[in-house]
Amino acid sequence: MKNLVVAIDGPAGAGKSSVAKKVAELLGLDYLDTGAIYRALAFYLNAMGFEPVESPYLTEILSKIKVSLSDGCVYINGADVTEHIRSPRVDSIVSSYAALPTVRRCLLSIQREQAEEGGLVADGRDMGTVVFPDATIKIYLTASDSVRAKRRHLQLLERGEKVSFDEVLRQIQNRDQFDSNREIAPLCQASDAIFVDTSSMTEDEVVDYLVRLVKENS
Ligand code: C5P
Repeated sequence: MKNLVVAIDGPAGAGKSSVAKKVAELLGLDYLDTGAIYRALAFYLNAMGFEPVESPYLTEILSKIKVSLSDGCVYINGADVTEHIRSPRVDSIVSSYAALPTVRRCLLSIQREQAEEGGLVADGRDMGTVVFPDATIKIYLTASDSVRAKRRHLQLLERGEKVSFDEVLRQIQNRDQFDSNREIAPLCQASDAIFVDTSSMTEDEVVDYLVRLVKENS
């Protein structure tokens, strides 16, 4: 029998990661945060001085890079980069690297391998459309721009980052615009995904609702 795969897509700040993690825990499944993988690679390439442009050199570097995940941490060539990947700086550069076909190709198999071990809840931008087109259930999770910016702003303040609400709002709108309009694997709702607007729901309500949806559809 095929493993159960719950594919969750949606724009920045929709609460996908925290919700997906809890849904996975409650259902006894693994959790795959694909944004963390893109962030880790963008952080690494940027720190190494690679511009987000296709080149034979980038292809060669990517063929040698080892990205791995373990216990909620992400490693590049064995080095734990988890602490560095959620900064406003990485927020502002990640989409340019994620739009590169070479980068997406490099990360595709890593993501699919995670579903070979057992059931999985995976969140990102192209889970239902590209990475897991045969997922057991697909969910498109979103909320209004201002609600998403408020949630993201709070997370950043809790982490000690000094950033204004307006800056966060502008940043997530830019990122969504870029992610939705790139040529390869753009952010969009899969035709067979269930649309969930969480603007007026608490996190627990969203988790309960998704757990119910998965049970009903699997
Ligand atoms: O989900 P998160 O906000 O951490 O994702 C960071 C960025 O990584 C996104 O804005 C997008 O550019 C990229 N990403 C992607 N495909 C995914 C997951 C993330 O392009 N499946």
